[in-house]
Amino acid sequence: MNKVIEVKNLTKTYGKKATAFTALKNINLSINEGESVAIVGKSGSGKSTLMHLLALLDKPTKGEVLIDGIESTKLKSRDLNKLRNERFGFVFQQFFMNAGDTVLENVLLPLKIAKLPRGKRKKAAMEALKIVDLESKTKNKATDLSGGQKQRVCIARAIVNNPRIIFADEPTGNLDSATGDKITDLLFNLNKKQGVTLIIVTHDEDLAKLCNRIIRISDGTIISDQTVRKDLKKTASIKRETEAARVKKANERK
Ligand SMILES: Nc1ncnc2c1ncn2[C@@H]1O[C@H](COP(=O)(O)OP(=O)(O)OP(=O)(O)O)[C@@H](O)[C@H]1O
Ligand SMILES: [Mg+2]
Repeated sequence: MNKVIEVKNLTKTYGKKATAFTALKNINLSINEGESVAIVGKSGSGKSTLMHLLALLDKPTKGEVLIDGIESTKLKSRDLNKLRNERFGFVFQQFFMNAGDTVLENVLLPLKIAKLPRGKRKKAAMEALKIVDLESKTKNKATDLSGGQKQRVCIARAIVNNPRIIFADEPTGNLDSATGDKITDLLFNLNKKQGVTLIIVTHDEDLAKLCNRIIRISDGTIISDQTVRKDLKKTASIKRETEAARVKKANERK
């Protein structure tokens, strides 16, 4: 199995001296390519902190984060940014869109950073927007969208670069269940069809159960790490069918 992420003795302390707080304590963990991993735990347990370190958005106080065997703390920031932009997609609420820009401009951004030739950018962005069913909103300003639509733009932006790993922090938080299911389907579809590794922080046990692995965190330490089933694909597709059936019924009612 191909280890995409490996962390060794990871510790994160915020602040200094009297206000120092150790949010993660000596975490050891590896994630294989194609896994879907749920990180669960109470509020304040360290989930987002761990996610930020795995996604190379923050640096550990101690320990190592290896991405495809590369020790990330040794990379220059330019190489780090490149690696992140090429391989990762983020669905983070606080990683919000540029509100004044249009939906299309928001989705084009990672492609600009990746220096994809101009002519290819729009096609790729439109394809991603089609997947999240927002083709009709491409010219709208990001601020003018509903919460669920904004979340879908974030997903389009996360997938537009064909990332190998998608990090999602509460991807279905604050969404109605139908929109949440749609986003869940989207993510697991990428996992199943394209082998994208999913790492999802969630409070939603149902969403966690769709993952093939559940890591539980409490007070900055891993208290359990369970590989639930190897064949999560089956469950994800069952859920997808249910969702498809639900949408069909809803349309029939209209
Ligand atoms: N920048 C920071 N400075 C100081 N303390 C921080 C900082 N960020 C997080 N913490 C603290 O670290 C702990 C873990 O925070 P983290 O955001 O990882 O929790 P979480 O598990 O994601 O919680 P939630 O479910 O509420 O999002 C918390 O006690 C939090 O107050
Ligand atoms: Mg959090």
